[in-house]
Amino acid sequence: MYSRITGTGGYLPDKVLTNADLEKIVDTTDQWIRERTGISKRHVAAEGQFTVDLAEHAARRALEAAGRDAQDVDLIIVATTTPDRVFPSTACLLQKRLDRHGCAAFDIQAVCTGFVYALGIADKFVRTGAARCALVVGAETLTRLLDWNDRSTCVLFGDGAGAVVLEASEEPGILSTHLHADGAYEHLLTVPGGVSQGYDSLTDGHGYVTMKGNEVFKVAVNTLGRIVDETLEANKLEKSDIDWLIPHQANIRIIQATARKLGMSMDHVVVTVDEHGNTSSASVPMALDVAVRDGRIKPGEMLLMEAFGGGFTWGSVLLKF
Ligand code: ACO
Repeated sequence: MYSRITGTGGYLPDKVLTNADLEKIVDTTDQWIRERTGISKRHVAAEGQFTVDLAEHAARRALEAAGRDAQDVDLIIVATTTPDRVFPSTACLLQKRLDRHGCAAFDIQAVCTGFVYALGIADKFVRTGAARCALVVGAETLTRLLDWNDRSTCVLFGDGAGAVVLEASEEPGILSTHLHADGAYEHLLTVPGGVSQGYDSLTDGHGYVTMKGNEVFKVAVNTLGRIVDETLEANKLEKSDIDWLIPHQANIRIIQATARKLGMSMDHVVVTVDEHGNTSSASVPMALDVAVRDGRIKPGEMLLMEAFGGGFTWGSVLLKF
């Protein structure tokens, strides 16, 4: 038994923040942001608009694309680093919105690798027969974790949500998933405060993203190169067997380096970082949805998804669409 993606959905909040807008907030330039990151704009959730709101839009679109009703779903996983509440999980809040009662629903947190982790977990549920129709969502309001005085981080991130419906199938489907982490790097990319340290730990800037960007960059490029090799070897495939690379959208230079490693022309790499910024766990499912809906990705093609994020965490999913 395999698991197969049968529908995709994505959602971006209406409000757009351009590089020109950021020039008015911090000491930066459109040219610096474009050259170093490839980002030209990002979307920002409106006041009173929360992660579950974005997740619900993306989930409903994915269900519609799959021709499924919420009542068909027997597993809900939401990957998020920006949950609406300490508890219940955003997955439970989404479940309520969808009026679906009783099926398992939980969040997973692996920062930018969150969706890849969630898909890896959902794949195991479906392959073992524990679920037949999973709703897997990556949803973030990451701009709420930003210090808008810190030019080294506030220009990078955006808000959004992406979702897939993953169903049991005798045809592949997901061929393999590869999940990794190394907590030794926790200090390079972190929000240092947190609940168990007490709410005071979230004051004085400790509730915001801090990042040693150039060190993250180097590890990300090397690690993503290795995960590409690991994924191809595990499936006895050649680089040329991959039709589409759907990378985490953190920085165009990291994406280009991974494409070079695969010997792939950028024409076969889905890029949304220019328009979405880094939406953390939402970036891979939103990129997938964009390329499915505009007709680039076609049934039967071989897709490689990969991501890297805080933790560090990293992972990949190889699948036949
Ligand atoms: N505008 C203008 N100048 C800036 C800005 C800005 N927005 N931000 C930093 N600078 C300056 C720095 O102060 C520094 O100035 P100095 O040389 O006078 O000290 C200079 O630009 C170079 O800074 P670097 O950090 O070395 O720049 P770099 O080329 O590394 O680019 C960037 C920074 C874009 C953050 C890059 O390192 C990067 O993309 N890193 C990886 C990010 C990533 O992949 N994160 C993982 C996922 S995120 C997650 O998991 C939540």
